Amino acid sequence: MKWFLDMFSSTLGRKLVMALTGLFLISFLVIHLIGNLQLLKPDGGHAFNVYAEFMTHNPLIKTVSYSLYTSILIHSVWALMLTIQNRKARGPQRYAVNSGKSTTWSSRNMGILGTLLLIFIVVHMRDFWAQMHWGGIPTQNYEGKEVKDLYAIVALAFTEGWYVALYVICMIGLAFHLYHGFVSAFQTLGLNHMKYNPVISFVGKTFSIVVPALFAWIPISMFFKL
Ligand code: HEM
Repeated sequence: MKWFLDMFSSTLGRKLVMALTGLFLISFLVIHLIGNLQLLKPDGGHAFNVYAEFMTHNPLIKTVSYSLYTSILIHSVWALMLTIQNRKARGPQRYAVNSGKSTTWSSRNMGILGTLLLIFIVVHMRDFWAQMHWGGIPTQNYEGKEVKDLYAIVALAFTEGWYVALYVICMIGLAFHLYHGFVSAFQTLGLNHMKYNPVISFVGKTFSIVVPALFAWIPISMFFKL
C-alpha cells in the first residue's frame, strides 16, 4: 500500500493521475458533443430530450457520471498540488523572466485555463445539469411518456447574447487547454515515439480546435436561429 501512496505523491505519479483523468475527460467531451449536437436538429428538441432522459436514468451511465465528477475533482486538486510543488522546486527563480522560446502560451497558462474551465463547469452544471435533476422544468409528452423538456431550458439560456459570448470565450479557453493537455498526456504516459509523435501531435491539435469549435457553434447557432 505504501508504494502505491508513494507513487501517487511523487511528481511523476501526480502527472500520471493528471494524464489519466485528463484523457478520461477528453473522452467524455466526445460523447457530450455528439449528444449536444442533437440540439441543432430541427425537431423541437425531441431527439435531445429523449437522449437527456436516457443519460439521466440509465444505471450504467449514472455510474460513469460519478467517475466523471470524481475525475474532474481529482484533476483539479492534483493540478493545484503540482503547481505548488513546481513553484517550491523553482524557488526564487520563479520570478525570472520566461523567454517563452521553449514553451507555448498554452503550456505556461494551464493553471489559469484550468481554473477558467472549472468555473465554467460549475456554472454550466448549475444551469443545466442541476435543472435536469432537481429543477421544476416543463415536460413534453412523447408517445405517452412524460419527458423533461431540457431543450427548452438550453434554448432559453442561449437567447441571451452575454451568455452565448461567455460560452464562446470558455470554449476558446478549452481549445488552448486541450492544445497542450492532449499531447502532454500521451508524453506522460510514455506513449510517445519518434515515429508516432507527428500523428499524436496532429490528432491533438485537430481535436483541440474542432471539438471546442463545434461546442461553441451550438450556442451561436441557437442564438441566431441558424
Ligand atoms: C455548448 C456547449 C454545451 C452544451 C449545450 C452543454 C449542455 C449540457 C446539458 C444540457 C447538460 C445536462 C445534461 C443532463 O443532466 O442530462 C450538461 C451536463 C454537463 N456538461 Fe455540458 N454542455 C456543453 C459544453 C460542455 C463542456 C465544454 C464541458 C466541459 C468542459 C461540459 C461539461 C458538462 C458536465 C461535466 C456535465 C454533467 C454530466 C453528467 O452528469 O454526466 N459541457 N451539459
